[in-house]
Amino acid sequence: MTDPGTERARSAVVTGGGSGLGEAIAQALHGGGYRVMVADIDAAAARRAAETLDPSGTTAVAQQLDVREKPQFEAALEAATARWGSVHALINNAAVTVARPVMEISPEEFDAVIAVNLRGTFLGCQVFGAHFRDRGHGRIINMASLAGQNGGTATGAHYAASKGGIVTLTKAFARDLGPAGVTVNAIAPGPIDTPMVHRTLLSASLCCSWHRRQRALPMAPPGMSTADCTCVRDER
Ligand SMILES: NC(=O)c1ccc[n+]([C@@H]2O[C@H](COP(=O)([O-])OP(=O)(O)OC[C@H]3O[C@@H](n4cnc5c(N)ncnc54)[C@H](O)[C@@H]3O)[C@@H](O)[C@H]2O)c1
Repeated sequence: MTDPGTERARSAVVTGGGSGLGEAIAQALHGGGYRVMVADIDAAAARRAAETLDPSGTTAVAQQLDVREKPQFEAALEAATARWGSVHALINNAAVTVARPVMEISPEEFDAVIAVNLRGTFLGCQVFGAHFRDRGHGRIINMASLAGQNGGTATGAHYAASKGGIVTLTKAFARDLGPAGVTVNAIAPGPIDTPMVHRTLLSASLCCSWHRRQRALPMAPPGMSTADCTCVRDER
């Protein structure tokens, strides 16, 4: 393990790092010796999460980032490289989760979910993937979901489809960037006990019986498993 305060420390950018799983991932990486940029559309949440890791701002910084906007990914990359020289890992974690029966999803809501979850992951892979490819090394982890494989139980079809799409995008980027020394992996967790899950299940459970059965879902605590950490680990 490297001390994040040393010159040799590697750096990582975590989107949606201001809460829930993203914050837990940022903590795990920082604890593992990474300098971490906590990037989130919610600037206050990003600042709070980064300050919790390092109040001095030396080894953890906040960055406001809307993953729907390519220039904002470019700005985050520029800020991280200006501060730390380069970036070694990107965790595409930001997402919006909406629960709604498939026949009730409006075209606008469908587009809105896809824009954050799928387009956001695509843009992150493209912008940081180019940086990693040019350096000949890098790690990308995309946060998919079990919902992307089974169609979703407690979430909407738009969310589930976006997560299935992330798995496919991951394969395409992995294929194209692999020869340049860049690994691209996806993690597909089942339910994890984050504030989002409580928000989603609570609002959903108010509206119809379709959701009532979801309240009994077994959930894991937020965190990063040893297997997850292996995706960013770098033995070079
Ligand atoms: N919690 C679970 O049960 C679960 C299960 C499977 C997969 N996941 C995935 O794990 C990831 C994190 O989930 P969570 O439960 O921590 O959710 P969460 O809602 O607590 O966190 C999502 C974060 O993304 C940020 N965000 C939203 N839109 C954004 C945007 N446009 N640009 C940048 N940031 C934005 C939010 O501000 C928030 O901080 C998501 O990709 C989710 O789909 C979660």
